[in-house]
Amino acid sequence: MITVKNLTKSFGPRTLWRGLDLTVPAGRMLALVGASGSGKTTLLNCMGLLERPSGGQILYEDTDLTRLGPGGRRRFRRDRLGYLFQDYALIENATVHANLDVARRRGTRPDHTRILERVGLAGREREKVHHLSGGEQQRVALARLMVKQPSLVLADEPTGALDSDNGAMVVDVLRQMSRQGCTVVIATHDDDVRDACDAAFDVHRQREV
Ligand SMILES: Nc1ncnc2c1ncn2[C@@H]1O[C@H](COP(=O)(O)OP(=O)(O)OP(=O)(O)O)[C@@H](O)[C@H]1O
Ligand SMILES: [Mg+2]
Repeated sequence: MITVKNLTKSFGPRTLWRGLDLTVPAGRMLALVGASGSGKTTLLNCMGLLERPSGGQILYEDTDLTRLGPGGRRRFRRDRLGYLFQDYALIENATVHANLDVARRRGTRPDHTRILERVGLAGREREKVHHLSGGEQQRVALARLMVKQPSLVLADEPTGALDSDNGAMVVDVLRQMSRQGCTVVIATHDDDVRDACDAAFDVHRQREV
């Protein structure tokens, strides 16, 4: 479960939100919606410790993430967090296999073949990521998440570069992860994604919609 309490974020004189409260229980999938520029990516980045809020707290289970030191932040990212970025954040010059392998947790042996089949990239392990299309790279990023099996998934426009079939596949995979107890938060402009979530939270209005 992740709980955002009384969160404020300003960039210079500009305040994106003030007093934002939001809870996503484990096993739930929440859509973050709202106009472009309302701060969906910024909120995900605050939850993922890539951005510091200007005020308030973010609790993951019983830990206040905003108070973690560098070691705690690193462990949270390594052991808990799965992030699907708008720009995929893959290692461009490496193979699909290598990109999956960096996410592997110690002591686990995930089945790359099955995972790549699941995302429609069967047999593509040896290809360099920079030769893949945008949508294929987006699916490699999803496969990497399946390898990592995080307990919190933050996804920023995960269907942005995809056709509707592949978009539905992404949502299916995220739903499967949430059924296994993962907390899933998805920033999206896509109504199909929003409809597939358990609830939607409008970042501009600061309430469920
Ligand atoms: N590092 C930064 N410095 C200054 N302003 C920033 C910074 N990061 C984001 N912003 C501003 O904060 C606002 C919210 O940005 P954000 O990317 O969170 O919006 P968004 O809801 O994700 O939009 P979109 O739907 O277009 O992805 C924007 O006006 C943006 O310019
Ligand atoms: Mg955004």
